[in-house]
Amino acid sequence: MMEFIVTFSKREPQRTQRRNLKEKYFPAYFAVKLNIMKRLLVTGASGFLGWNICNTSKKDREVYGTVFSHPVEIDGANIVRVDLTDFNDLKKLFNEVRPDAVIHTAAASDPNYCQKNKDVSRKINVDASANIAGLCSDHKIPCAFTSTDLVFDGLNAPYREGDPVCPVNIYGEQKVLAEQEMLKRYPDTAVCRMVLMFGLPSPVSESFIQTWIRLMRGGKELRLFVDEFRNPVSAETAVQGLFIALEKVKGIIHLGGIERISRYELGSLLRNVLGLHEAKLIQYRQRDIVMAAPRPPDVTLDSAKAYTLGFSPLSLRDELQKIRDMFY
Ligand SMILES: NC(=O)c1ccc[n+]([C@@H]2O[C@H](COP(=O)([O-])OP(=O)(O)OC[C@H]3O[C@@H](n4cnc5c(N)ncnc54)[C@H](OP(=O)(O)O)[C@@H]3O)[C@@H](O)[C@H]2O)c1
Repeated sequence: MMEFIVTFSKREPQRTQRRNLKEKYFPAYFAVKLNIMKRLLVTGASGFLGWNICNTSKKDREVYGTVFSHPVEIDGANIVRVDLTDFNDLKKLFNEVRPDAVIHTAAASDPNYCQKNKDVSRKINVDASANIAGLCSDHKIPCAFTSTDLVFDGLNAPYREGDPVCPVNIYGEQKVLAEQEMLKRYPDTAVCRMVLMFGLPSPVSESFIQTWIRLMRGGKELRLFVDEFRNPVSAETAVQGLFIALEKVKGIIHLGGIERISRYELGSLLRNVLGLHEAKLIQYRQRDIVMAAPRPPDVTLDSAKAYTLGFSPLSLRDELQKIRDMFY
């Protein structure tokens, strides 16, 4: 069942009234204003990335965020509780919100969970994503989808958009299926391949650096791979890329950072930036830990196409320093 948890419900009727008046008496003003005040639907608002998107964009857009098992609230955004795997509720969501654009981040995002729960995870990762693309096509609105660097096997990095996909786990397979199905139903979809992301946590979903910082500060050992490479970005940078994609991209785009780095090197950099010089980092290799989902060694994404469109990630040191200065 779909349920609106409207956090600025009291202000909303006034807003709509004002909007109607402006539209009636100042159509030119409204046309310009509408450009920046787009009604944006963000799926997965309780999640790490969705939360960051809602908080960044609520300043100049009317934001609707969906949640499912975690009914969090976001001040200044409208929150709707909905199971996106229920097609009737999904249709109702589009009809009631009438979004001007959609960023679809909701997913079963843990590869180990997907490996062990293939059928359940497929419903949200593949079926719901395909249905969202279909509805965006019906409503003729832009749609950005958050896919992953794990569509590749990690043996031939850096990967460009046109390189053949070859996932090594179920999560990656499901994202490939979602990409294909979404583009089939709506070729205008911006399929954004996201990389490892870090940043400010949502109330219920953290990024990996929060765990790392807890362990470092608690004097515990932090075991990190020296042989697993990514080109990470902060959530803030990822959000910038998603908005560029929403406006300028039809088809696949890679939104990776400017530095290829191992998890161990990233941990060392974080330790340095936070001044936690006593923190114990232990070098691990992928073969030292067996996980349900196999992991590709190096899925660095060549993101030159996005850089030419204006996507401009900072250095990792600068990204981490920004987060440190705001919160740590
Ligand atoms: N984080 C990364 O480093 C990374 C890297 C590459 C790609 N990605 C992709 O980026 C996207 C965002 O990742 P994330 O880390 O922000 O994920 P996350 O924190 O795990 O959040 C997942 C979101 O999906 C929602 N959701 C799950 N099943 C749902 C359902 N049946 N109906 C409605 N909502 C549902 C969750 O809602 P509730 O919690 O309320 O149930 C939550 O808001 C995902 O598509 C992920 O695959 C992430």
